[in-house]
Amino acid sequence: MTIFFLLSSLGLFLAGLIHLFISPDHFSHAPAHGAFFALSGVLQVGWSLLALRSGLRQRRWLRWSGLILSGGMVALWLLTQWVQTPFADAPEPVDWATLICKAAEGLAFVSLIAAVSRNTEARRGSQAAALLRATSTAGLGGLLVWGSGLLVTPLFPNLIHTHNHSLNFAVFPSSAAYFSMVYSGKEADQLTSVSSARIQSMTLHETTLTDGVARMVPLETVTFTPHTVVSFAPGGKHIMLDGLAGDLYNGEIIPVQFHFASGRTITVHFTVLQDAPTGRVNFASSDGFQITNAWMRATVNANGLISLADGGYEWQLPPGFPLPRVPDNNPMTAEKAELGRYLFYDQRLSGNGTLACAGCHIQALAFTDGKAVSSGSTGDSTPRNSPSLTNVAYNATYTWSNPNLLVLERQIVIPMFGEHPVEMGITGNENTVITRLQQDERYQRLFAAAFPQQVQPFTFNNITLALSSFVRTLLSGNSAYDQYMRGNTAALSESARRGMDMFLSENFECHHCHTGFNFSLSTVIASTTLDERPFFNTGLYNVGGTGAYAAPNSGIYEITNRPEDMGRFRPPSLRNVALTAPYMHDGSITTLEAVIQFYADGGRNITEGEFAGDGRKNPFKSGFVPGFTLSDQQKADFVAFLESLTDEQFTRDPRFSDPFIVSGS
Ligand code: HEC
Ligand code: HEC
Repeated sequence: MTIFFLLSSLGLFLAGLIHLFISPDHFSHAPAHGAFFALSGVLQVGWSLLALRSGLRQRRWLRWSGLILSGGMVALWLLTQWVQTPFADAPEPVDWATLICKAAEGLAFVSLIAAVSRNTEARRGSQAAALLRATSTAGLGGLLVWGSGLLVTPLFPNLIHTHNHSLNFAVFPSSAAYFSMVYSGKEADQLTSVSSARIQSMTLHETTLTDGVARMVPLETVTFTPHTVVSFAPGGKHIMLDGLAGDLYNGEIIPVQFHFASGRTITVHFTVLQDAPTGRVNFASSDGFQITNAWMRATVNANGLISLADGGYEWQLPPGFPLPRVPDNNPMTAEKAELGRYLFYDQRLSGNGTLACAGCHIQALAFTDGKAVSSGSTGDSTPRNSPSLTNVAYNATYTWSNPNLLVLERQIVIPMFGEHPVEMGITGNENTVITRLQQDERYQRLFAAAFPQQVQPFTFNNITLALSSFVRTLLSGNSAYDQYMRGNTAALSESARRGMDMFLSENFECHHCHTGFNFSLSTVIASTTLDERPFFNTGLYNVGGTGAYAAPNSGIYEITNRPEDMGRFRPPSLRNVALTAPYMHDGSITTLEAVIQFYADGGRNITEGEFAGDGRKNPFKSGFVPGFTLSDQQKADFVAFLESLTDEQFTRDPRFSDPFIVSGS
């Protein structure tokens, strides 16, 4: 009997420790869950210590409370997984901590049941009844906690944890200013209004949540009590901005006057940003006030505020898309993009006059060429598949696997001048190419407009700048999936919707690597400060069981020479993926169905030929490609979802099409 108590005590001790361990992390994004885990942890650890001390004497209340803290917790967890989770819109994902914790609770429960059973051994008749009572105590306890959790959830809407794992579009609310301030004077004062020479109208507002609906309420005044923080933050109090006098630049500092009831006026300097700062952006003090993180959200074409980080260029961003990052030495202009569009479609840019960029990047195929690998102007084959140019403006790195190629301007010179393999074949033909272009009157006009300050604008540097500017305009965000996300529920079929749920779920892991608005972890936007360059080995090859990939492609290993980098490639965006077959860096998978089967298998087993080897066992394979089982229906659902990422309009958009055809020459 004691041994069972010892086991249950150990089980609950472990479960309690895990609960305490995961509590702080949850607390930050799901306070209700964090608090519940902390409470469970304290109770379980407390129980196990009590049981160790007095277990020998087998107190009755200790047995019953133990049953609830073990079996009850398992029952509660099962209910949250299969029915509904209090304070959340979806179940918590199951990870190792969960499994170990539930196993420990299960062990404690079984041990306690054994203890109960031994206790009643002598009285045979009552044994079954006692076991039934013990089990139902645990079950009912779990049910009660779960039910009351569900009942009180609606009372605390701001504690609800939303699991919007991956498709979190950068949504820009209306333009607003935020700050955090502490007043250290003696008497309270009231902020009555704010004003700035740069902004026509600034009003104090608060967003409130009633019955789950957000409303903006104007604030007459805001009281500053001494030594108390007043915080204006997204989702709460804010200064609403309307009408702009002059232009705003990203990072610009705008002075704003704060007017108080006491008659005092202070000036607070706000930094214009596109997104909430992650660290401290400024700190200042003025007349008894300490001010931190005063910032304004600059939005694109909303409420008259336009971020002019790009020298006044009007991005035609798909709804909800963030501003792309643009290098300082090549700010966007409509003129450069226009010149770049002509160059992109012009075979005269290649050494022998036979191949344009568009020869390997065809609009109808989302700017791929439909081949496993491409052929250059002189017949050389490229080692890799021509990638889609959909939304490349947001790529963190360029090409399939180069952690050092961070800007388009540096990538684009490769097809122009590269000799291994020859693509455009300009090297050795520089003068011929420039002369060809110079002789065309249209280019005389286009170059002069794009580079107005320059006497001799026909340079390869300018050609690169113009091509990059054009390629940055290739933005796609009007697929059926996008329409669905904007509220048109009919845009996605039932099947595509099921596929989307699978794509986002933890079971299939896709979203870890194909995440965010561009379906690639390898994404940067104008305001990105973190330098992340993700690459993964997905188990495509394992030549000879050594982990090697099929030559000449070995992923970023080619650059870093680190063994663990073998086979690591950039996760490509999946936008327009239905148009970009064949797939993977070497075009070695022909259909989307086959790609899905490849992930289901957890890699690719090649049984014969020079690349034979079981990719599923590649030692460098990412842990996110474990394999899974799929029904035929689920496979079709996955494909339907990937097909819903096709933006037909993008493939026909006249802004991206061949200008020589459009203008009839
Ligand atoms: C011979 C076919 C071919 C030609 C011509 C060609 N490309 Fe490419 N392009 C490719 C291939 C193949 C890759 C992938 C390279 C790699 O991963 O090493 C690529 C990659 C790119 C990328 C990187 C995309 C990404 O997601 O990282 C851009 C941008 C690009 N090309 C633009 C251009 C431009 C602009 C031109 C004309 C100057 C051009 N390409 C000419 C075949 C071609
Ligand atoms: C570990 C990260 C990771 C996970 C998880 C992952 N992918 Fe990928 N995906 C990649 C990488 C890297 C590539 C390119 C691999 C290569 O070319 O060698 C890729 C390529 C693809 C391609 C081909 C794209 C093209 O243009 O060639 C598709 C389609 C795709 N993944 C879909 C999925 C789906 C669906 C899932 C979930 C079942 C998934 N991926 C899970 C990293 C991942």
